Amino acid sequence: MSPTGATAAAHSFRTPVCDRLGITTPIFGFSHEIDVVAAICAAGGFGVFGVARDDPARIPGKLAELRERVGDAPFGVDLMLPPGVPERSDPEEIARHIPEGHRRFVQDLGRKYDVPQATRETFFTSFVRSRELFERQIEAVLASDADLVATAIGVPPEVIARARSARKTTLSLIGSPRHARAAMAAGVEILVAQGYDAGGHTGPIGTMSLIPQIVEMARPAGIPVIAAGGIATGSQLLAALAMGAQGAWLGTAWLAARENHTQRTLLRKLIDAGSEDTVITRAHSGKPCRVVRSAWSDEWSAPGAPTPLPMPYHQALTGDLLAAVEEHDVAPLVYEAAGQGVAWVRHEEGVADIVARLEREMSESWAALRILATG
Ligand SMILES: Cc1cc2nc3c(=O)[nH]c(=O)nc-3n(C[C@H](O)[C@H](O)[C@H](O)COP(=O)(O)O)c2cc1C
Repeated sequence: MSPTGATAAAHSFRTPVCDRLGITTPIFGFSHEIDVVAAICAAGGFGVFGVARDDPARIPGKLAELRERVGDAPFGVDLMLPPGVPERSDPEEIARHIPEGHRRFVQDLGRKYDVPQATRETFFTSFVRSRELFERQIEAVLASDADLVATAIGVPPEVIARARSARKTTLSLIGSPRHARAAMAAGVEILVAQGYDAGGHTGPIGTMSLIPQIVEMARPAGIPVIAAGGIATGSQLLAALAMGAQGAWLGTAWLAARENHTQRTLLRKLIDAGSEDTVITRAHSGKPCRVVRSAWSDEWSAPGAPTPLPMPYHQALTGDLLAAVEEHDVAPLVYEAAGQGVAWVRHEEGVADIVARLEREMSESWAALRILATG
């Protein structure tokens, strides 16, 4: 029964983009975890694997594993391609961009929170984002049999052209009409309109204001728009469809999925967090990024704290300490990108349960709306 007392018949909501991509439900799921992506595909949605935190040498193996897991089901791969990074990661050049005061601040944080040394490598202890790294990631993705390539933070026309000649469907995450225009000019075939509420790198326009604007812009070109940012329930998904989107793209919702293998301390923080417990900070990557609030974001916004460095230098500065925080599960400093929809992250559950709940709620909302329309 829905909150209005309407009994929801099970409806399925299939949009043209579902048929185009070969999926049975208009739910798109972004994750850095293969297990989550495979489970989204198995549930009839469109799983997108983020490789922005992956060693290019390991991408072919991961994508081959994903293909084996999903069989013929389509899946996508997401690349983060911000402009303005150095040509290559030259340690001396990187070091020149990191002021001594910033190094001292990070060392002091390590001491203040008793963070032991990291013993394991992570992406951020091994790599600094550069054009050379991006090129190796792009080559690995284009050589794979992924069905779709998504780009975020940047939309290099040349990468879109290469992806299209490699017979990949192209998609771009955008946060403003200006970004949408650039993506369409580059030949992108599907837009994800991601609003301010979203977890991860985000712009200043709210999801409710952004989606209909982008739908209006993209309609004449026949480009489908997928809604993102703060979407965590079936009623929000239905609202996105009502605004002309052809589906919803979720990131935060999977953080408490069993398949995400989230460390207990972080899981607890996410479950306890409400929408006001997320903040936009540049202390994650150097670019504005919505994360669950922690001592990390608090320390970087405290009076006297240095201003975070631009991407990629901030992560070069903080990579070692954050690797140690993760490895040793240093509770106050543990955090992850998370959006305002974290308010609905209430307990650990399987991806299939999350998808089934979203579908059930969409049906219930639809039934409730129909009563209003005829009543
Ligand atoms: C933990 C996390 C990491 C993310 N990393 C990326 C990324 O590497 N590339 C990307 O395009 N989007 C990334 N995003 C954003 C998602 O693709 C998605 O647009 C966003 O999560 C949607 O809003 P929501 O968080 O409210 O569901 C990330 C989001 C989260 C929560």
